[in-house]
Amino acid sequence: MSDKLGDTPAAEFRKHLHEIADWVADYREQISTLPISPNQKPGSIRAKLPGSAPEQTESFDDILRDFQQIIFPGITHWAHPDFMGYFGATTTNSGILAEILTGALNVNAMTWRTSPAATELETVVLDWLRQWLRLPETFGGVVYDTASIGSMHALAVAREKAASEVRERGLSGREDVPMFRVYASDQAHSSIDKAVIALGLGEQNVVRIASDAEFRMDVAALREAVIADARIGFKPLAVVATVGTTSTASVDPVREIASVCREHEMWLHIDAAYGGGLCVVPEMQWVIDRFELADSVVVNPHKMLFVPFDFSALYVRDIARLRRVFTLVPEYLRGDAAGAEINYMDYGVQLGRRFRALKAWMVWRTFGREGLAARIRDHLRLAQLFTDWVRSDARFELSAPTVMGVVCFRYIGHNDADSDRLNAEIVRTINASGKSYLMQTKLRDRTVIRLGLGNILTTEENVRRAWEIIRATADTV
Ligand SMILES: Cc1ncc(COP(=O)(O)O)c(C=O)c1O
Repeated sequence: MSDKLGDTPAAEFRKHLHEIADWVADYREQISTLPISPNQKPGSIRAKLPGSAPEQTESFDDILRDFQQIIFPGITHWAHPDFMGYFGATTTNSGILAEILTGALNVNAMTWRTSPAATELETVVLDWLRQWLRLPETFGGVVYDTASIGSMHALAVAREKAASEVRERGLSGREDVPMFRVYASDQAHSSIDKAVIALGLGEQNVVRIASDAEFRMDVAALREAVIADARIGFKPLAVVATVGTTSTASVDPVREIASVCREHEMWLHIDAAYGGGLCVVPEMQWVIDRFELADSVVVNPHKMLFVPFDFSALYVRDIARLRRVFTLVPEYLRGDAAGAEINYMDYGVQLGRRFRALKAWMVWRTFGREGLAARIRDHLRLAQLFTDWVRSDARFELSAPTVMGVVCFRYIGHNDADSDRLNAEIVRTINASGKSYLMQTKLRDRTVIRLGLGNILTTEENVRRAWEIIRATADTV
């Protein structure tokens, strides 16, 4: 009996590890031959799986077979070079290798003592990225899973700064706390609304500021909204400037927004989840201009810097304040927390933390800044090339300037309603075909097609094929 306890036998593990290593290498090599999306009906995968957990042991060969036969056919291949949804996909060979090591180590980076190297490497890669972003040394960072969580923590610090003792006393039932308002452009990501919801500030207190013709926040409209709110008793709390908006990758005017924040003593949070990645490209430095004026900045290396999902970095000018808001050391952690310079559990609501720094460290060393920049530069070139193709076909029009690796355009129908339907139909037909993968979004109430580049495997040939498929599909819908 006793020899049946413990983990699976070492020899068996080694054999499967080799098999999976080969499987992963084959997958990476052959990925472009696969259909991108499975086109299955909702529930069809679950219907093939037992509804209750196994009572008895199952062999890994059987499990792997079911992976191949049931799970794999239900995968949407984000890593496929023809996948051009969202911001492309950012997995890389060295990132995959790092994830294998991370899984084997399975350390918890909550305190320094629970794994000193995990904490110290996190500090190192955060500092590398801080330097690329040209943020002063006064900014401290922390790694979270996503930008949504980073923005929530940033706004929690803003809230604590504006209303004392929120940590201890909360907000409800307090007459000394005014109604806060948070400002973001009409292009800002929904994570800002979610952060406000989670912080108990009230969704209706997110004020959406109109954007200009190029989808950048209209600063005059921001200033007016802030003044009008202050006049009727609201407390303008924070402005979120987006650098690389989700739909068009537009860049809000950070310098001007920072002036409004200074005038009205508001927190400036920069959501550079996507656009911040351009910090490694010398000729694109204008994108990160004046980041040093912010109180907090969030960047997702899993969006542009080739680190596999998930890895998001939050920088706060006064990181000690973030720590004060969230540090809480229960007795059972006191021993492990003692004597350390940094225990990252102090910098957020999460206690247990994955060792995410390892993959960033391995990926960034694999390419170096120059290698990262060269690859991103090529995506920018391909986005411009695609933009030229759209311009040269009279049946299509550009819907927004192409600033980064994102192109928004639309098929021109007979009238607006007809065109909205056709553009949605083009995206749906293409995605169902498995040959390419795009997104639709709404700009100024019109449905448009959105192409996002970022996959390290995507070449000019892939982008050219996408354009051919789009044109051929437009002929048929
Ligand atoms: C501008 C922007 N901010 C925030 C987010 C949210 O990112 P995450 O999925 O890391 O929470 C996105 C996601 O696409 C985004 O485009």
